[in-house]
Amino acid sequence: MISVQHYPNILPENIISKILELPEVQTAKNSINIKTSGSVSFSINLTSEIKNIILEKLGINLLNLDSIPMRWIKGDTLPHIDSGYSSFTNTYLVYLTNSSGEFIVDNNSYPISKGSAYVFNEGIYHETLGTGFEPRLLLGPMSETGFAVGGDPVVDVRVKYHFNLWKDLTRKMYNKRNYKLGNKKRDYSFDKSRTTILDFL
Ligand SMILES: [Fe+2]
Repeated sequence: MISVQHYPNILPENIISKILELPEVQTAKNSINIKTSGSVSFSINLTSEIKNIILEKLGINLLNLDSIPMRWIKGDTLPHIDSGYSSFTNTYLVYLTNSSGEFIVDNNSYPISKGSAYVFNEGIYHETLGTGFEPRLLLGPMSETGFAVGGDPVVDVRVKYHFNLWKDLTRKMYNKRNYKLGNKKRDYSFDKSRTTILDFL
């Protein structure tokens, strides 16, 4: 069963400002700033204020945890399914900055806005589109027990543009080749591997 939940504005402005001013957030921001795209994972200490909001708004109990995973991301994430060091039921994330573009979960589009949380169950494909070059900060992505999940391949918009061009070109070449071959004997072993790659893309 597919479940995607969007909770707008679960964190108030003053708490977000405090998080953004933390030295570990600033240090990680310096690391993402010098990248053209990618992500920087780190963690911050969990205050009882944040724990209570997460419990109240998202329904997960992190009261025994000392820290929470965080991530700066620059560029678009390609479609992917989250994974973690252990099995889990849901992915939880809260955007702490606004961003251009959109967050797409199971083919539905959502805004990337400060304080908004998303919860979706494990195994659902998700991606971002049109996020440009400004880094965005996330609390999470994490499991219901608070460990980091993800494994998102992040690319900048230029790479994504060329990736799509290359994908289209490969498809055209593949179709043209099959058209030329017509009814002649075909190399099925080659076709099989090429089909697998195209299916993956
Ligand atoms: Fe993800």
